[in-house]
Amino acid sequence: MQFEVLATCHTTRARASRMKLAHGVTPLPTFMPVATQAAIKGLTPQQVEGLGVTLILNNTYHLNLRPGIKVLLEAGGAHKFQGWNHNLLTVCDSGGFQLVSLNKFTTITEEGALFSSPFTGEPTMLTPEESISIQHAIGADIIMQLDDVVSSLTVGPRVGDAMRRSIRWLDRCIAFHEKSGKSDIQNLFAIVQGGLDSVLRDECLNEMTKRHDQVAGYAIGGLSGGEEKDIFWRMIGQCTEKLPTDKPRYSMGIGFAEDLLVCVALGVDMADCVFPTRTARFGVALTFNGPLNLKLAKHAKDAKPIDSTCPCPTCSDGVSRATLHHIATHETVAAHAITLHNLAFQAQVMGQARDSIMGGTFPKYLRRFFADYFGNAG
Ligand code: GUN
Ligand code: ZN
Repeated sequence: MQFEVLATCHTTRARASRMKLAHGVTPLPTFMPVATQAAIKGLTPQQVEGLGVTLILNNTYHLNLRPGIKVLLEAGGAHKFQGWNHNLLTVCDSGGFQLVSLNKFTTITEEGALFSSPFTGEPTMLTPEESISIQHAIGADIIMQLDDVVSSLTVGPRVGDAMRRSIRWLDRCIAFHEKSGKSDIQNLFAIVQGGLDSVLRDECLNEMTKRHDQVAGYAIGGLSGGEEKDIFWRMIGQCTEKLPTDKPRYSMGIGFAEDLLVCVALGVDMADCVFPTRTARFGVALTFNGPLNLKLAKHAKDAKPIDSTCPCPTCSDGVSRATLHHIATHETVAAHAITLHNLAFQAQVMGQARDSIMGGTFPKYLRRFFADYFGNAG
């Protein structure tokens, strides 16, 4: 990976950079749409590409279950399998974040994560080594360590234990990755854990930054699980303050525009979340004046597009809020149209943040964004 910081903001920690991976250049900061099962729900890869997206995310856990590694290898890797020629990041969710939602099925031991298949109930052990091996087979440009993540609302010894296990698992991932011969083209990221405890976060940061030369970037994990905003920001800030400036920082599971911009101001470069695509399927369009619930009756006669300045195909074709309101309740095509718009919105938020960092006007952009987004102009 080539990573170069091109500009930094003078009054915040925001930076604009250029990340070059095997499948091209991705300008940062960026938002990564989530293609859990090798597809962004409702969109073709060409449509995603048409939005200017150059980096998407797949879930290792899901791809390993279906279609499985054999099919992916036969297809020549996950890029070919899903017809995506740009960059791809895989996150290893089985012992990781899915654990929070699937933990009825998962047991963590030092060896790895033991989980039962949701299809067959059959128990499978996923070790850090195997998680890297699967991600090698998938062929993603950025691969994530297997981590032990607890919900951000968990308290007690489990938080420190999970953080320390994540460090030990990182070392196993690094060892396996280094001897695989794949570390020239595939880039391993560490995931900082430690819950909402600043002492534990510091311990994790100290240990993981010692592995600086063995990792290509750092993720901040274990957040955005229902904690107060104030503590969420403090944890992100604590991490970005200690993380090396010469590697990308990725805040996991962050997708609200206001959170993205605070994270960017704190020095985050990448983020992902199912929120913009999921909320689209519920009929909610994201705009610079705040979210619009198109299912509400007040949109039934509104001839305006979602946003007349938006470059997405839905808005530039002039599809009206009234049409979207009408079809949102009956037709899946509305979900596709709003998904296109919402991903274009996320890309615009991050693209404008980047342009303003480059132009030295990021604080002004932040003020304008927040005034519009939380004002009542819409
Ligand atoms: N998605 C959101 N947060 C996390 C995390 O801490 N770990 C993993 N593996 N995935 C996540
Ligand atoms: Zn649009």
